[in-house]
Amino acid sequence: MTITVRRMGPGFAAEISGVDLSAPLPEDSWRQIYEAFLQHKVIAFHDQKLSAADFHAFGERFGIIEPHTVEMYRHSERPGITLLSNRTELGRPKGIKDAGSHWHSDYSYKAVPAKATMLYALETPDEGGDTLFGDLAAAYEALPDDMKAKLHGLKAQHHYRWHVDRNHPEGRWQLLTESEREQTPEVIHPVVRRHPETGELSIFVFPGLTSGVKGILGMELAQSKALLQTLYEHCDQADFQFRYKWRTGDVLVWDNRATMHCATTDKLPPDQFRSMWRINTTGTAPIAG
Ligand code: SIN
Repeated sequence: MTITVRRMGPGFAAEISGVDLSAPLPEDSWRQIYEAFLQHKVIAFHDQKLSAADFHAFGERFGIIEPHTVEMYRHSERPGITLLSNRTELGRPKGIKDAGSHWHSDYSYKAVPAKATMLYALETPDEGGDTLFGDLAAAYEALPDDMKAKLHGLKAQHHYRWHVDRNHPEGRWQLLTESEREQTPEVIHPVVRRHPETGELSIFVFPGLTSGVKGILGMELAQSKALLQTLYEHCDQADFQFRYKWRTGDVLVWDNRATMHCATTDKLPPDQFRSMWRINTTGTAPIAG
């Protein structure tokens, strides 16, 4: 098996060719894939034909699979796989219609946020439904030194479903059952985290809708809001971003410990359909940077 890795984005994101993810992966191929994952943060494989078992087995290479908080869209045979789809079946949504058309990092609302997320494209639209990625290590690196010093030691309160508008149709407040709400209390994370494997520092705050930051610990509300807004605007710059246009059969894996992402499914035209399987693996509690 000859594996080729080719850079896709500005300073991150790469596509990998020469791999059939439905076949057993030789150890040296797996090592190259994992190195590419750590180095490029977002990796793509094209033209894959996977069963739920194949996708699940590949997911397990990246750690322990953690089923999605919203139980109703778990795959019936492999609950570790979540269905994302804008299709309906017998009048009911087939999957999560919009898994997050706002900047976020998966499971940042948990004490132990996600390590890898992977999506497998079962069906893709001709138009729309791209996923945007942001390199939060590059964003941290580009901060002025006085801002880096200011952020050092700060901690932020993260909360699932945090959004000013609880009636927002895609806000998680609407989707969660009472017990799911109880299972998602507020958590505290460092504003700058150190990657447990590469040692890189990255910014770790997000604006919210399905999950976001309520505030920075020990700061006046107005001061905390202003600082968070500065960080959101800094991270949301084209220099740190990459847009992925999906093709059916693509598998994308990203490292939530150094990136953020943003779906664009909120703008998907109604005659365009997009269905994906998604897996998250568990990381480790963020280390303060
Ligand atoms: C996600 O936010 O996890 C899914 C991204 C997408 O559907 O493009």
